[in-house]
Amino acid sequence: MQHDASKHLVYISGEMFPPAEAKISVFDSAVTLGDTMTESTRTFGHEPFKLERHIERLYNSLKVSRINPGLTPEEIAAITLQVLEENLPHVPSDEDVWIVHNISRGTGALAADPTQQRSPATVIIHTAPLILSDWAGFYTEGCHAVTPFSRAIPTQSLDARIKNRSRLAYTLAEAEVKLVDPAAQSVILDTDGNVTENKGGNFFIYADGALKTPHARGALAGISRETALELAEGLGIPTQVTDFQPYDIYTADEAFFTSTPYCIMPATKFNGLPVGDGRVGPVTQRLLQAWGELVGLDIAAQAQRHLEA
Ligand SMILES: Cc1ncc(COP(=O)(O)O)c(C=O)c1O
Repeated sequence: MQHDASKHLVYISGEMFPPAEAKISVFDSAVTLGDTMTESTRTFGHEPFKLERHIERLYNSLKVSRINPGLTPEEIAAITLQVLEENLPHVPSDEDVWIVHNISRGTGALAADPTQQRSPATVIIHTAPLILSDWAGFYTEGCHAVTPFSRAIPTQSLDARIKNRSRLAYTLAEAEVKLVDPAAQSVILDTDGNVTENKGGNFFIYADGALKTPHARGALAGISRETALELAEGLGIPTQVTDFQPYDIYTADEAFFTSTPYCIMPATKFNGLPVGDGRVGPVTQRLLQAWGELVGLDIAAQAQRHLEA
């Protein structure tokens, strides 16, 4: 069975559309202001993973950004499951999907006061094939983590916990690291030189016998980050949420990123130097294995099948 993305229906503010007809106004605040709140959830074996946590985070982003979605979390959850149910028949049994939420302030924000919500919010819920080929090689080889020269937007200016679609800072950081190595993955520092996160993932090191990740003060409180910490605790691996700097990555035993699509992406090189012995380490492997057991799926094998396709 072929995964035909053109069959995935898209929900927009109360109606379902085929992808080619899924359109929003050029006057939508998603376009004019980029003030769209967002979530990306994935399925494992066609079951959504931690959907309620994603919806909770979405409602926190909506509250802080003062967007009224016009629907309760329960209503959004029910619509999300309907969209998924509608689209899963087009998904091969060994593949999974993204479930994406994008909610903007709606049309009419182009007036003098952009905070006024003059129309109902634009609520978009869609699914998409979870194509993992860009990350698949990293499960065995590890990726090259690189620090861009641009720093993270200070959390005093825009709290990184608001999961929003204004992605320019992340995209520029990613463009900068790709000048160093076209396959590099960014590790963005804050203005004090502390590690924050990646354009779409959180960052961890294993050093001095503990798994360490930066505070969610300057990074999105990733749901995969939370899962990695829970799995580590279950495996008896000490965890620390703490500030650290590039020096700590150079001298760590292991390093990896976490994010919804790939779960754990090992990093075996940092700014040109090997992390630890330059191979994917045992703690990273144990965590990936435990994650696979939690969701009943060989996560790396599923991604690696995309390399063969
Ligand atoms: C900036 C940023 N950091 C971290 C993450 C990881 O979050 P999660 O694990 O919830 O996918 C994301 C996810 O998209 C992100 O956009």
